[in-house]
Amino acid sequence: MENYRLNMQGITKIYGNVAAIEGINFSVIQGEVHALIGENGAGKSTLLNILSGVREANTGEIMVDGEVVKMKNPLSARQAGIAMIHQELQHVPELSVAQNMFLGRPLTKYKGLFVNKKAQLERARTILKQLDPSINPDEPIKNLKVAQQQIVEIARALLDDAKIIAMDEPTSSLTPTEFDRLAELISDLKSMKVSIIYVSHKMNEIFRICDRATIMRDGRQVGVVNIRDETEETLVSRMIGRKLEKVQHHSFMTDRDILQVEGLGRGDDVLPATFSVRAGEVLGIAGLVGSGRTELLKLIAGIDAKTCGGIQVNGRPIHNLNVSSAIKAGIGLVPEDRKKEGIIKQRSVAVNMALPKMRNYTRAGMLQKSKLDQAALKVMSELKLRPLDTEKHIGLLSGGNQQKVIIGRWIAADTQVFLFDEPTRGIDIGAKSEIYNLIERLASEGKAIIVVSSEMQEIMRISDRVLVMREGKIAAELTGEDISEENIAQYAINAVFHKK
Ligand SMILES: Nc1ncnc2c1ncn2[C@@H]1O[C@H](COP(=O)(O)OP(=O)(O)OP(=O)(O)O)[C@@H](O)[C@H]1O
Ligand SMILES: [Mg+2]
Repeated sequence: MENYRLNMQGITKIYGNVAAIEGINFSVIQGEVHALIGENGAGKSTLLNILSGVREANTGEIMVDGEVVKMKNPLSARQAGIAMIHQELQHVPELSVAQNMFLGRPLTKYKGLFVNKKAQLERARTILKQLDPSINPDEPIKNLKVAQQQIVEIARALLDDAKIIAMDEPTSSLTPTEFDRLAELISDLKSMKVSIIYVSHKMNEIFRICDRATIMRDGRQVGVVNIRDETEETLVSRMIGRKLEKVQHHSFMTDRDILQVEGLGRGDDVLPATFSVRAGEVLGIAGLVGSGRTELLKLIAGIDAKTCGGIQVNGRPIHNLNVSSAIKAGIGLVPEDRKKEGIIKQRSVAVNMALPKMRNYTRAGMLQKSKLDQAALKVMSELKLRPLDTEKHIGLLSGGNQQKVIIGRWIAADTQVFLFDEPTRGIDIGAKSEIYNLIERLASEGKAIIVVSSEMQEIMRISDRVLVMREGKIAAELTGEDISEENIAQYAINAVFHKK
């Protein structure tokens, strides 16, 4: 018992009159990588927020190296050697890397009167050099890629000589190569005897870097396992409390074009693209991060202005392509970054879901609340929103559940053309198959669907046809047997041009 680096006992957190987590026991050994897993809303972030002093537990005890820590605020956590990398990164974009690293605890000179910028810069440089020498500590942090911003967070943790570093879904926006780098970094931290708590919905990551896992379900701790004793299947069934059924791809493709994209482009980002999507078809778009996939979707949805070409929906050209004409034509985009493009935190789930088509729920300027609630409840129960409460402010939902509301939004609006950008990012493995089923249902109803995804398995599971993008171009179109991991990877990486 006494050799636990971290030992949390009987932790309960109540919001209103509901326990978000209840009686959680969670302990971590020195130098291990410990996964914290569970479905969306299971309470992972809540537990980590308590560990890092962001929230106060209603009951329970936190011990570091056998000593009870009085957790009053983030400072108490820091002093106890606990650092946290949050699900949504928090920095001041305009400040430099070094300034962000020393935020709230500057190095000072002249008896604490002035910030010692030079010393901060030097210290930051020394630490960053071990982690990623390409990061300039003097650069405004907003200029860095997300992966680098994450490295800065880790550097910040090292500044404090953290003994425990908790990472809440650190790779949700990293590329596979960036994950490799993080994995290396974690292994270095391990050899420095730092304990890592790792939250992720990605099983391959957990099997690659974690030693043990604590499983949470509905706010309770339901098990602690050694990763090497598990398979992906056993771990998932512990997590969701049932076996995950394997589903085959069903095709509902017809031969009627709904969306026609003709020479649509924007400067060098998206070179003129021509393709169509049929009623009942799911078109996957694969490619590396930065290959122009998101940009292409944004052009179709009228978010970014095109510089050439155009689109037609049901044979009707959209003359003045912008967000409102696109929505009017029945196009809906589920964006990659819900925080920037998606939600109003202080409003209810129902209102957030209705946003693009608020007019459907108002009469003579008055909100028809019962109509709205009914619509929201229908979609949200289909997506298994937890809690199934359409009145709750969306900002209070777990990350994955917020994503579900945004997906639900376009289902409730009468959308013809669905554009999904990384639809299951941050979504737990059980809810993923619900989203696949839903996409399939939309296809069976004759909708046209485009899915951009970096997950090969996902593309293969749901697509009738796959476009592979590379450097702003459509490099290949794959159908039938040709849709394979090898083909996708080859076209995504090599400059092979496909002639139609
Ligand atoms: N400030 C709050 N007020 C009310 N309820 C909250 C608040 N913060 C979290 N909750 C609720 O606590 C529960 C656990 O949420 P938490 O964010 O810990 O889940 P999670 O396991 O991190 O999920 P995800 O994988 O989606 O990130 C959810 O039902 C959530 O709605
Ligand atoms: Mg979370």
